[in-house]
This record gives sequence, C-alpha cells and structure tokens, in this order.
Amino acid sequence: MIKIFDKNDKAEFAKAVDIRRTVFVDEQGAENTACTDGDDASDSTRFVLVCRDGEAVGTGRIIKLGSAYKIGRVAVLESERGKGTGKIIIETLCKEAKRLGAAEITVNAQLHAVPFYEKLGFKPTGEKEVCEIGIIHLPMRKE
Ligand code: COA
Repeated sequence: MIKIFDKNDKAEFAKAVDIRRTVFVDEQGAENTACTDGDDASDSTRFVLVCRDGEAVGTGRIIKLGSAYKIGRVAVLESERGKGTGKIIIETLCKEAKRLGAAEITVNAQLHAVPFYEKLGFKPTGEKEVCEIGIIHLPMRKE
C-alpha cells in the first residue's frame, strides 16, 4: 500500500521518522537531522510511506523550492531492498510533484544511489557534491 500525506498526518509521519532513524542514523551513521528538520514542517512538503503486510517499509518526501520540487529522505528498510520499493517511492513522489506543478524535480543523491536515480531518469546537474546530514551527495535533476 502507498500513502501520500502532509505534515498534519502525525501518525504516518511518525512511521516515516522511524524508518529514517533506522536507515540513516543507525545504519548509515548520519546526523540526527536526518530524522526531522524544518522542511518537514512546511505546508507544501509531501511524504510517501510504502507498507507491506501492514508494516511501513519505505519512505520519502518532496519539498518545494521555487518552481521545483526536491526529493529527499528516501529510505527502504535493509531487509526490504531490491524488491522495487525504492522505485515505487520515487515514481510516486515524481507523480505528486508533477501534479503540484513542478517545473523540475531535483535530488541530492548519496553516491552509492546515483545509479538507482539514473535508472529512474535523473541526471547529474554538473554541480559539485554537497554534504547533507553528514553524508556526501551528488546534485541530480529530472525535467
Ligand atoms: N546501485 C545500482 N542500482 C540500484 C541500487 C544501487 N545502489 N539500488 C537499487 N538499484 C536498482 C535496482 O537494481 C533496480 O533496478 P531494475 O529496475 O533494473 O531491477 C532499481 O534500481 C530499483 O531498485 P529498488 O529495488 O526499487 O530499490 P530499493 O528498494 O532497494 O531502494 C534505495 C533503493 C537507495 C532507496 C535503498 O537502497 C536504501 O534505502 N538505501 C539506504 C538509504 C539511502 O541511501 N537512500 C538514498 C538517499 S539519496
């Protein structure tokens, strides 16, 4: 099951934060801001949660940046990877961004995930790598 929601759905947001903590902080050693930050409180931010057998297994969000939407906090529980969940999250977020009128969709990709995003139509912007949540990311975009 795929759910799209905004900041007012506190119960679903808590499940997304649990996945972020497990994947980014516990597994990858990222900063605690990976769990929640100011962009989560924005009216225009949308979240996705993918559930399997009643359990939340993957999440992601889009935040509005001018006429573009930026994908972020994409995480799938380790035991659930390689089953197409990440692809569902990105496709759902892109569809939602398009519905909201995005002229462009961007993502800062962790370096190991660059081929994952390339498979889903993203290309490097040519900008240099940036550090987010304590991890190096490559800016990518999809028109
Ligand atoms: N390198 C190359 N290809 C990859 C890949 C990787 N690291 N991860 C997935 N793919 C490919 C898959 O083989 C699949 O290809 P196919 O359609 O040809 O079969 C396609 O991308 C979709 O894979 P999917 O099973 O949907 O991905 P996933 O559910 O395993 O999720 C991540 C991918 C990156 C979200 C997941 O590995 C993850 O949560 N990692 C830890 C958190 C993280 O790094 N998030 C990204 C932040 S930018």
